[in-house]
Amino acid sequence: MNPSIDIGTEADEVITDQKTRCATPTFDPGGGGINVARVLTRLGVHSDALFVCGGYTGNLLKQMMAEEEIKSVPIESLDVTRQNVAIIDNSIGKQYRFVLPGLVSKKSTWKSVLEKVETTIQNYDFVVASGSLPIGVPADFYSLISSITKKAGKQFVLDTSGSALFEGILNGAAYIKPNQEEFAEMKRIFNAASDDELCSILFEKGIDHIVHTLGKEKTLLITPEHVFEFTPPTINVRSTIGAGDSFIGGLVAGLMRGLDKKQAVGFGISAAASTLQSEGTDLCDADEVEDIYSKNFA
Ligand SMILES: Nc1ncnc2c1ncn2[C@@H]1O[C@H](COP(=O)(O)OP(=O)(O)OP(=O)(O)O)[C@@H](O)[C@H]1O
Ligand SMILES: [Mg+2]
Repeated sequence: MNPSIDIGTEADEVITDQKTRCATPTFDPGGGGINVARVLTRLGVHSDALFVCGGYTGNLLKQMMAEEEIKSVPIESLDVTRQNVAIIDNSIGKQYRFVLPGLVSKKSTWKSVLEKVETTIQNYDFVVASGSLPIGVPADFYSLISSITKKAGKQFVLDTSGSALFEGILNGAAYIKPNQEEFAEMKRIFNAASDDELCSILFEKGIDHIVHTLGKEKTLLITPEHVFEFTPPTINVRSTIGAGDSFIGGLVAGLMRGLDKKQAVGFGISAAASTLQSEGTDLCDADEVEDIYSKNFA
């Protein structure tokens, strides 16, 4: 719902109130759903990327998706697709990341996304909703997608945060993937005294699997009957961009190829690890994912 064009560059030094002359920028398509579709495509899983886009940046986004040969279902909007900017300040070796808000000003735009989901879903087993919601889209939007998915007899996977998450789960989901912060946020919002209590509340709301990722420390797969714990492999992290999205892409790819849910979580961890080992905004590599999976989880 809230894709972006991600601009990356670097400068000798960022000084306030002065022009910061930057190096030649890189441009990448960004946003949760966009990245999940890119990962699925790399892993050889057929998908359609549904995304809202508008203006010159929207056109660029469509072009970039076509160049990467990612099947797209763009939903045209009157609002210009947002851009995010990341600038490395070489004097301190740190990165500034400016994330701009997206906007969908017309109700008819997000309504047509729901219609597109309803028609596109017929060809698929899973619907993944990932990333933040733009201004103008109701916080319970993902729960509407969940209803459509359920009615079609397909599986809904949700990876988002804040109110999009709290209100997005109200009609249940096959999988949610809260990280440490999102899990803690849900505990607060749902007034849960413990982790177990939060999980019980989520199961009551119709969540089938809670995949709680805790970065390099561990990943938990929690169902009403079991808790399975996984340890991510030790790797040389080059960039953390896209780890969560790669996890989701790997998880769904694993389930699509018939792995059981424990193995599929292992495949998700492998996809995340491969992305973490890649430079900058680059995502996972299929052969590397297979290699990590067979060494650690098969
Ligand atoms: N340092 C690390 N080493 C190995 N694997 C890692 C590391 N950090 C993250 N991962 C993998 O990436 C997955 C997702 O990471 P994390 O729990 O940070 O989710 P996230 O916060 O949603 O990620 P993102 O920052 O992309 O949104 C984890 O389940 C784990 O497998
Ligand atoms: Mg995340």
